Amino acid sequence: MVKALQAVRGMNDVLPDKIGYWQYVENIIRQVTLAYDYAEIRLPIVESTDLFRRSVGEVTDIVEKEMYTFDDRNGDSLTLRPEGTAVCARAGIQHGLLYNQIRRLWYMGPMFRHERPQKGRYRQFYQLGVEAFGMAGAQIDVELIAMNARLWQQLGLQDKLTLQINTLGSTQERAQYRDALRDYYSAHHAALDADSQRRLDSNPLRILDSKNPEMQALNAGAPKLLDYLGAESQAHFKQVQGLLTALDIAYEVNPRLVRGLDYYCHMVFEWVTQELGAQGTVSAGGRYDGLVEQLGGKATPACGFAVGIERIVALLQKQVANTNVLQAPHAYMVTFGDAAQQAGLALAEQLRHALPALSLRVDCSGGSFKNQLKRADKSGAQWVLIIGDDEVAQQAVALKFLRDEKPQQVLKQSELASQLQQLM
Ligand code: HAM
Repeated sequence: MVKALQAVRGMNDVLPDKIGYWQYVENIIRQVTLAYDYAEIRLPIVESTDLFRRSVGEVTDIVEKEMYTFDDRNGDSLTLRPEGTAVCARAGIQHGLLYNQIRRLWYMGPMFRHERPQKGRYRQFYQLGVEAFGMAGAQIDVELIAMNARLWQQLGLQDKLTLQINTLGSTQERAQYRDALRDYYSAHHAALDADSQRRLDSNPLRILDSKNPEMQALNAGAPKLLDYLGAESQAHFKQVQGLLTALDIAYEVNPRLVRGLDYYCHMVFEWVTQELGAQGTVSAGGRYDGLVEQLGGKATPACGFAVGIERIVALLQKQVANTNVLQAPHAYMVTFGDAAQQAGLALAEQLRHALPALSLRVDCSGGSFKNQLKRADKSGAQWVLIIGDDEVAQQAVALKFLRDEKPQQVLKQSELASQLQQLM
């Protein structure tokens, strides 16, 4: 036998028994983004490598070691997108969507990072991304957080997630802070791990983000960015907090929250859960006022976030019973004999025409009545539509209720659509 091929490590198939969760999440995403009047944008999966080098940053985990980068047949360096914000900004600039304009956009789709796979961390994973361009005030930061909170509420996950916020200040303030960090860590050079020593010159802020437990004590004593913020940055952050309180959105200020991408400034946030082990960040984002200009557009304030869909699905699976989100047809049709097969297919087409919202599965696999009925039950359908020789002769159909204690009915085929409509 030929050896069967496997999916690439860290890249998952979403099988039919789980797809209900995904569709449930996708429907709620559509509702919530519509409620705030954000427009969908569909973006390519492959971009020029330069885009991510210039936006995410040269000295970040993503660019240093996680990108799927390859030369195409023309020798151009291309990359499977590791995130969507840079792609969205690139598209906005290219199509003139951002120039002196306000834009509220969202996208959903796969992202690719060559990380070490573990539960909740994959090499292909899906994100909902939401980006707001052209607004500088704290109001839009909080609109985005409120939208994110509404998403949790609609999904029934509000009790599982807590909001952490921080401010990174302006680009200049961060530069001063970076110098202070460099001085501090240089004075403790021997205590730095190899990664941190390498980052000392290029990006000492990333040392703070180290996952190495041996770096924790040193990091705890490091200078705090909050002490380097100017009046304007402080006012912005205060306003964010005031608006969150006014909207009754609970939050914690986490001064260690620095984010792993270089484009952020001012307010950043993460929604975290205790229920998913090490990969507990379900949504993350913040302001990135410099990015559009950095990518060749006119300076444009911007803010956004991205939600990891696999992580939401994992949370939902813990609490929503499978049966609530499993796809089941309303009705299942079984037929006997050649004439009934033909009459059944024709009747099924008439029903789908008359009732576009009806989900009807026809048992096209033949077999005994008993086996067809077994399959009907397994499908989760409410009703079985039965057609045999007698029904064909009388242009009738038997309607059997699988989930209610109601007696079977025999109906004229012409009456079936209106009868089902009442039942739906
Ligand atoms: P990020 O923090 O890199 O931000 O990713 C956002 C979310 O995507 C994470 O909180 C997590 O839920 C999910 N995620 C990231 N990596 C993986 C992975 N390997 N496996 C499964 N899920 C993952 C961004 O990507 C920014 N573009 C967010 C943003 C939008 N900022 C402003 N606008």
